[in-house]
Amino acid sequence: MIFKQLIEPDSNTYTYLLGCPDTRKAVLIDPVLDTVERDMNVLQELGLTLACTLETHHHADHLTGARVLRELTGCKVAYPAIEMPGCADIGVEEGTPFEVGTLLLHPLFTPGHTSHHHAYLLDDGARPMVFSGDVLMIDACGRTDFQSGDAATLYRSVHEKLFVLPDETLVYPGHDYKGRFVSSIAQEKTRNPRLGSGKTIEEFVTIMDELDLPYPRKIDYAVPGNEQCGKCPPNVPEKYRAPCDAYDQG
Ligand SMILES: [Fe+2]
Repeated sequence: MIFKQLIEPDSNTYTYLLGCPDTRKAVLIDPVLDTVERDMNVLQELGLTLACTLETHHHADHLTGARVLRELTGCKVAYPAIEMPGCADIGVEEGTPFEVGTLLLHPLFTPGHTSHHHAYLLDDGARPMVFSGDVLMIDACGRTDFQSGDAATLYRSVHEKLFVLPDETLVYPGHDYKGRFVSSIAQEKTRNPRLGSGKTIEEFVTIMDELDLPYPRKIDYAVPGNEQCGKCPPNVPEKYRAPCDAYDQG
């Protein structure tokens, strides 16, 4: 498999490029509008054709690059089927593997950060990899106080869908804010201070209730924009408009 972990530094979002070496088809998991040009260059350098973009959820901290990438490459846009916007081409759901050439991604319904969140498991006979989005991060997890989030639901998703994976499964999160790239299921089960080391669901809910996080700075335009596959809404503030102005989004 061809694999690249790419970062958008303003929102500390990881975009994952997975390519099939036989067909040269690729998927981008959680692309960001701000880094579409970088992604296009990487695809070209690797001789890959973008077959589709794939979202873990409707993000609140950045606009997806899905719509612009579709305009530039003709790729399909995939979202969780449970809350698939009308602009998307493909709805994914647990139980139905998502094919990219010879690669198979297994969607895992993992609500809690949002009610429609999905992680994606790649298990191709080598070491398994799970792209955990915002439900499980390195020593952390996504917040549960916005967008249909629910702490108890997130706890159950992590314990019932992710912590049951083989210990050696590599965990590639949707974000990291401390420059870390990858973890493993064993490591998160042991070390995650919120979800691992025997923390109960009650303890987890209390931890999340007491986080007292600031209001997400891009949520007011990011969520409505992502519900349109990454179309820039009129209320994008001037300081964030550059990637919107770079592309004709007619
Ligand atoms: Fe998120």
